[in-house]
Amino acid sequence: MKGIILAGGNGSRLYPITKAISKQLLPIYDKPMIYYPLSVLMLSKIKEILIISNPEYIDFYKNLLNDGSKLGIQIKYKIQEKPKGLADAFIVGEEFIGRDNICLILGDNIFYGQGFVPRLNKAASLKEGAVIFGYYVGNPKEFGVVEFDESGNVLSLEEKPENPKSNYAIPGLYYYDNCVINKAKSLKPSARGEIEITDLNRDYLLENKLKVEVLGRGFAWLDTGTYDGLANASDFVKTIQKRTGLYIACLEEIAYNNKWISRAELIKLGKEYEKTEYGQYILRIAGENK
Ligand code: DAU
Repeated sequence: MKGIILAGGNGSRLYPITKAISKQLLPIYDKPMIYYPLSVLMLSKIKEILIISNPEYIDFYKNLLNDGSKLGIQIKYKIQEKPKGLADAFIVGEEFIGRDNICLILGDNIFYGQGFVPRLNKAASLKEGAVIFGYYVGNPKEFGVVEFDESGNVLSLEEKPENPKSNYAIPGLYYYDNCVINKAKSLKPSARGEIEITDLNRDYLLENKLKVEVLGRGFAWLDTGTYDGLANASDFVKTIQKRTGLYIACLEEIAYNNKWISRAELIKLGKEYEKTEYGQYILRIAGENK
């Protein structure tokens, strides 16, 4: 399984903050937003990753993450000329995906919660079809919405419905078999002119090949689409990190725990940021700091 992070779009809902910078590079407390979805792919044990962004921003991501080798992963980059929709990721990423299965995560989605890694591993072991998630929210109108029956069978999928049939939003984390490329190519643009991920998921549903996993209320899926969402996500990360002394989305720590980098490499990475709490945390993980 390979992974794609979609980090394009025009970020217009956050203007003027995102007038001159890509949304997924904004800070969420102590790290750039894209660290959070990248950490999810790494926790999924996905090592081959494609970052998709706009022509004007792609080099910023290259400067930040390079080829990924320092983290023991391979990162490639591809430009999306226009924000044509989330499903366009599979068309832009066709060559990268090749014959593999693929996980797509949106560059502005943040996940945190106990038991997440086994859920990710289970989803990543998919052989056929698609896996999406459902998460109870108070404002389902703003998301893709999934409705199920009492046995957990999916009854409907709708994108930002006026009258949502359930409170279960679909977070921006999706796992697909290789058929996703051809399915994406056959989608027609929606009323907002985008090829919608919800239409793609409906194709899988019609073939009876869509699984939905519910993320329970002990779990955090954070929204960064508004000024408040951004500030709240930063507060959340700060609160958890300060309370537990453990970091959310420390890429170096995840790479080390996955045995993708050695202790010596971890120490070297920590020393690069030695003057910051982030760097000191890495050194603490390596056993260099108390
Ligand atoms: O966050 C989860 C929601 O994401 C889902 O519940 C919805 O079903 C899904 O459509 C999507 O809704 P949004 O309206 O929030 O998507 P948005 O247009 O904001 O794009 C999400 C991210 O993807 C954002 O970081 C920008 C990036 N993007 C978006 C489009 C349309 C791209 O990189 N390229 C694109 O073409």
